[in-house]
Order: sequence, then C-alpha cells, then structure tokens
Amino acid sequence: MMDEILEQPDALARALQAEREHTREFQRFCARQNFTLIVLVARGTSDNAALFGRYLLELTTGIPVSLAAPSVHTLYHARLNLRRALVIGISQSGEGTDINLALQASRRQGACTVGITNEPRSAMASLVDEVFLVRAGRQRSVAATKTYTGQLLMLYLLASALGREVTLDAVAEIPSHVRQALRLAPAIRPLVERYRYMHECAVVARGLNYANAFELSLKLMETCYVVAERFSAADFLHGPIALVERDFPVILFMPPGKTFAEMKRLAARLRKLRAEILVVTSSEARLRPATRALQIPGAIPELYTPIPYIVPGQLFAALLAEAKGIDPDQPRSLKIVTRTR
Ligand code: AGP
Repeated sequence: MMDEILEQPDALARALQAEREHTREFQRFCARQNFTLIVLVARGTSDNAALFGRYLLELTTGIPVSLAAPSVHTLYHARLNLRRALVIGISQSGEGTDINLALQASRRQGACTVGITNEPRSAMASLVDEVFLVRAGRQRSVAATKTYTGQLLMLYLLASALGREVTLDAVAEIPSHVRQALRLAPAIRPLVERYRYMHECAVVARGLNYANAFELSLKLMETCYVVAERFSAADFLHGPIALVERDFPVILFMPPGKTFAEMKRLAARLRKLRAEILVVTSSEARLRPATRALQIPGAIPELYTPIPYIVPGQLFAALLAEAKGIDPDQPRSLKIVTRTR
C-alpha cells in the first residue's frame, strides 16, 4: 500500500501524458452529441471516485449527473430512457459483474458508454464505446490508492472534454501537488501513535472533497478496522453531531474556497465539544481552531484539491495500520476483485 501511495506522482503524470490526445478527440466527439445526462456506475473506492465525478462534472459542465443504482439493472431489469445520456463505468479491475451488466444494459437503452479502468484487457474495456485507461501499473495492494487518484484524474479529463472550466494545463499541476502532499509522511508517522487505540471516528467534508470523506473512511475501515462514518458537513449537523463528546475523533477536509467558512464553523463547534479534531488543509487556509492539522505545502485552487487532499489520508491509514500491527496489504476477508450482482 505504501509503495503504491508513493508511486502516485509518476503514475498520474504518465496517465495524463498518455490520455491527452485521446481527451482532445473525445472532446470533438462530445461536441457533436449534446449529452443531457451523465450517469456514473461503480463500487467501493471506484464509487467514491464516482461521487467526486458527480460534483466535478455538474460544477464544470452544467450537465446533470446521477449515481446509478446497479440493482435497477441487474436485479429489477428496469427499462430506462438513456438516449442522449453518457454512462461512465469506473472499475480498477474492470471486472465488477454488476458494473459491467449495468453498462451493457445502458448501451442497449441508448446510452453512449465510457469505461475508466486500470486494466486494458478487462471485460469492461471490451464492452464500452470509449476507454480511459488509468495506467497506474498493476494494483497489488487490496487497498486501492493509486488507482483512486488515477480515476479522479480521468474524471478531470472527461470534465475538460465536456466543459470549459477544467483545463489540461491546470490538471498537469496535480502530480506536483501530490508530491508536496507526500512530504507530510515524516510528520504523520509520529502523529498516528496518538490514534493507535482509535476504534471509531467520523470523517467530514463538503462539496468537491465530500468523496474524500468516503474514501478515507473506507481506507480506515479496511486497513485499520476502525468504524469510520462519513458525512457531509451539513448532514453532520442534522443528527450525527450528537455522537461527539470529549476526545471523539473527527477528521475534517478543509480546502480553501467555497466550503471553507462552513467547515471552519463546524470545527469551532467541535472544539467547544472538546472533540479530537484532525484537519487536512493547505497553506492558504487558516488553521484555527483545529487541534491538529495535516497541511499540504503550496497553494492549490479548490477545484484541484481532491487528488492531493486524499494523499495525507492514505498515508495516515497506511501508517496507522502499521502502528496497530495490521498488514494493510492483506485486510481480513477481502480480495482485490469483489464480484457482486
Ligand atoms: C478498495 O480499497 C477496496 N478494496 C474495494 O472497495 C474496491 O475498490 C472495489 O471492490 C471496487 O473494485 P473495482 O474498482 O475493481 O471494480
């Protein structure tokens, strides 16, 4: 897991370089299609990438985006009108049974289908109209890290093909932001000692980083066996905040930008409750009233924070697993490919 976390800057730069021309071709194709709906379909970490894609694509293309419920296709066999829809499947392995069935059904129902996968010879790659390859190198760890950030990168490329706000030049800066985030590893190693006996926590974010709350929670559950609940900062105030008492751990993603003021108000409330607060942020953000912060060096525009912001979370999970004496590469009861219907 740690090796794959460290591979990310090179993997992202390689994937961007390899998919640049393809992105421009896809942009010309999209200009002729007039898509009125985008649907994302995925499981696990790939579904967390899809959740990010929902925010990114709605914010930057103006096209409504929905997250598919695979059972609508695989168990209920519903007939949907998907003419003028772009259906995007995301799967590291490209072998998720229900994801591939949903893509096949969507194609029959009139959709144009795109697959985002790390495996060029997978079932997914052979059944979709367009393939965007993550090119992260073979994933060996059960816990996905480099393929998650690679999937997010592919979603930026799709956003640049479908809208005007995301530019390939800005996307090209992401690998260097990730390199900066990796510099936090020596600070995180001693920090995890404080959390060695943590059994439960909440991870909270809003907007573009909401998906990272899901992804960090998943990493903490599968590699550290911590019951990690994830919330939007708004939903957290509608009930779950009642869980918080003195020393209850809450991890907050606090990028600069639209969500910052609300996250800061939440941090202040949590501080009054004497929660154990850990913040992921970058240098533009003011850190009070956080008790502890993982601060990524450099200024990152909010739109491009999600990839570098998950990196301290990945390091935290991998190092916490090590501190707890758990092998994060072999979580109990899990395999790299999980087949569900
Ligand atoms: C990732 O850390 C998980 N082990 C798991 O959720 C995984 O992402 C999921 O099974 C999806 O697999 P896929 O991307 O190969 O379809």
